[in-house]
Amino acid sequence: VQFRAVRNDGSREALVLLLGLKNVFIRQLPNMPRPYVARLVFDRKHESTTMIKRLPGGEEVVMGGCCYRPFPEQGFSEIAFLAISHNEQVRGYGTRLMAHTKERAKQLGLTHLLTCADNNAVAYFKKQGFSKIITLPPERWQGYIKDYEGIVLMECVLNYKVDYLN
Ligand code: ACO
Repeated sequence: VQFRAVRNDGSREALVLLLGLKNVFIRQLPNMPRPYVARLVFDRKHESTTMIKRLPGGEEVVMGGCCYRPFPEQGFSEIAFLAISHNEQVRGYGTRLMAHTKERAKQLGLTHLLTCADNNAVAYFKKQGFSKIITLPPERWQGYIKDYEGIVLMECVLNYKVDYLN
């Protein structure tokens, strides 16, 4: 299994991987409107950590991923969607996916990850170091992400002394 940061740069490789990831999201996040998922995944301001399995024939299959939008000036990334294919869940891939997403955010010079977590994903995010207590000053994120009622805004503060992949 391989993890790769992919952005829609118009290349065939990126489009194939993002299409695979969009299909995982649509299956695993049935409450999300499909056009909305497609719009963000292919949006050029968004980027995705893709989790790729190489089949014996050499074909690459996307088994999961995490789509986020970096806001470089504000110092954070907002995670929009995150999912692992049903038959690969609870094997530790979700944890590795988040570790790669954190390291990528550090590469981009960001200090925080924010997400609007589904209620049933709150426990997962807590295990990944996210908290419901938002320490990022409101002026850095309000107006940038949709903080509507019924969702749980969660934050992870990135620690540059930690190698999340080790
Ligand atoms: N509720 C409680 N605990 C959970 C859940 C859950 N829904 N999912 C995983 N965990 C726990 C695991 O038990 C594990 O705990 P442990 O370390 O003590 O053993 C830990 O979280 C990590 O488990 P992984 O195996 O690394 O996670 P997994 O590969 O299953 O991926 C994920 C987790 C991505 C949430 C997956 O279950 C999934 O795709 N779910 C459906 C889609 C979804 O809900 N996505 C998040 C929506 S919110 C958003 O997109 C912003």
